Amino acid sequence: MLYSSLVRILGIESSCDETAAAVVEDGFHLLSNVVQSQIDIHAHYGGVVPEIAARSHIEAINPVIDKALTDANCSWDDIDAIAVTYAPGLVGSLLVGTLAARTLAIIHNKPLYPIHHVEAHVYANFITEQSPTMTPQLSLPTRQPSFPLLALIVSGGHTQLVLFHGHGTYELLGQTMDDAVGEAFDKVAKMIGLPYPGGVSVDKAALLGDSSTYQFPTPRTQGTYDFSFSGLKTAVLRATQREVGKDHTFPSHELPGLLNDLQRQNIAASFQKVAVRCLVDKTVAAYEQYLPNSVVIAGGVAACQPLRDRLREQLSIEIEYAPLALCTDNAAMIATLGYFHATAVPPADPLSLEVIPSLSMTRTSWVMAD
Ligand code: KG4
Ligand code: ZN
Repeated sequence: MLYSSLVRILGIESSCDETAAAVVEDGFHLLSNVVQSQIDIHAHYGGVVPEIAARSHIEAINPVIDKALTDANCSWDDIDAIAVTYAPGLVGSLLVGTLAARTLAIIHNKPLYPIHHVEAHVYANFITEQSPTMTPQLSLPTRQPSFPLLALIVSGGHTQLVLFHGHGTYELLGQTMDDAVGEAFDKVAKMIGLPYPGGVSVDKAALLGDSSTYQFPTPRTQGTYDFSFSGLKTAVLRATQREVGKDHTFPSHELPGLLNDLQRQNIAASFQKVAVRCLVDKTVAAYEQYLPNSVVIAGGVAACQPLRDRLREQLSIEIEYAPLALCTDNAAMIATLGYFHATAVPPADPLSLEVIPSLSMTRTSWVMAD
């Protein structure tokens, strides 16, 4: 455990297709944030190819870490600990980051903290300051959230409502029964011929579309905090088939070529409206039941502007948002959560830290029992 007055954590993230490193001071002050995206490489295949992702991480990891230290104006002497994503994610990708972190922890004699990627997304909301020399200057929340804290976690692999009672102690209120919402955005984008990565493309196309063109169904998960997006995705497929006069026998990869831009925009807007409504309705209901002190959104889909706008309109509590750059995968969130680990629990053994590709948040409460 670290007790020094200024604690600087180097965060390392490589769970999917972003190689990232960042330095954060005292769990709120961002000193550097380097993200090397592989989007251009995977765009060619229409999705992340795990083998290619792992090989790209190997090439990028050392330069990215060096840049994070240089940008933060830090030498290894200035770093108090290393935090690294060890779960969940693609096994090859996770291995590259954790092996780099383990090796650096041994060579530089630094404590090493294993971090859960999904939990870390929530901690992007704890970053409230950045060094004045950093570019770009981000629009950060004015203060850290307080507990109890309700978090809507919406990423490419997860859709969860989680109630945090304190750092490392939380309960899962609900989660998706099938696809994650980010996955639904990505699949719908592919279905209607919008470029990878799908979330941003759907967001952009939706801005130009009419969301009342199609009436997509709201998933039937009433009375729970669970979500479901696969029915919505299928409804989009059926509407697309009808729109171009084809049925289920027509090859779905040929559908996008038959749509025009206006049809794409209207489908994107109609889909996004229902997906956002599902997320907002459950979040508002959970807020009203648990009356937490703060509500945050976390994960890549938290970059969706209509989601932000609707939540602000419908929640009777003020809500602040992390900047878009800290919603998608990054290492600043890893370093920030690493700070709270470093001040509360002993470090991991760098000789034996293993990755856990599938690890749900229900099992990861890390605070030590009194
Ligand atoms: O958290 P993240 O960067 O990676 C995972 O941990 O999964 O989330 C990626 C997901 C993708 O599914 C992407 O399509 C979605 O976030 N996403 C968005 C937007 N930007 C990214 N979804 C909706 N609107 C956006 N603006
Ligand atoms: Zn993520």
